[in-house]
Amino acid sequence: MNLSIRPMDLEDIPQASEIELEAFPPPWPATNFMRELAINSLTFYLVAYEELCDDEKPVPELRDTNCDTRSSESRLTALRSLFRRLFGGGTDGVAPRQLLLGFAGLWFMADEAHLANIAVREAYRQRGVGEQLLISAIKLAMEHNASIITLEVRASNRAARALYKKYGFAEVGTRPAYYTDNKEDAVLMTADGITSASFTDNFLMLCQAHPSKLGDDL
Ligand SMILES: CC(C)(COP(=O)(O)OP(=O)(O)OC[C@H]1O[C@@H](n2cnc3c(N)ncnc32)[C@H](O)[C@@H]1OP(=O)(O)O)[C@@H](O)C(=O)NCCC(=O)NCCS
Repeated sequence: MNLSIRPMDLEDIPQASEIELEAFPPPWPATNFMRELAINSLTFYLVAYEELCDDEKPVPELRDTNCDTRSSESRLTALRSLFRRLFGGGTDGVAPRQLLLGFAGLWFMADEAHLANIAVREAYRQRGVGEQLLISAIKLAMEHNASIITLEVRASNRAARALYKKYGFAEVGTRPAYYTDNKEDAVLMTADGITSASFTDNFLMLCQAHPSKLGDDL
């Protein structure tokens, strides 16, 4: 996989929305990527992508998810048409040259970076994409002089909890019944002292061990 990371652009919104629908189906509210990218200066989104060859199918079909596909698809159609109205051209019939594999969003507040979300296209999971996004998000937090990264994760989300633990996040508490769809608890996780020698030494070791060989384009 020829994986690269870069900041999210407005053109990425339809693909990012597809990935989000797969990862966080309704009733989880859709992220307003447009507002996050265009207005919210405290937010930063990264995307993982690979270049498509000319003869490759632009974007995979929405796969069967647990969500209400009709409302999901109509949300996506509405988003695409809004996108066309705002920016002309469009995404329907115009093949994107890059396939988005995942994204991660960070909010910055004083010395805290909050990992708002991270998601990988289902067909590309367990291939190191989520880990690379987390590495890039941590680097970004370091560059913004954050000293702590915080996040919430569903108690049942074993994959995400394992990913965060691998990168030194500690489970520091719970928010009972935080997720309104099923009243599931959120586990609060933090990576403290991300500029400390102990954190950075471990982080560099993990980065070097990560199999994806990426250009450091952040
Ligand atoms: C969580 C998520 C982003 C991980 O992305 P990914 O690309 O599949 O993860 P990676 O292949 O980079 O795996 C990195 C680490 O995550 C953990 N991990 C990933 N998938 C796992 C699974 N199915 N079971 C257990 N641990 C898993 C492991 O620690 C793994 O490290 P290892 O390979 O050394 O064991 C992905 O599963 C996803 O998009 N899930 C849906 C959205 C979501 O839940 N986001 C988190 C919200 S808080």
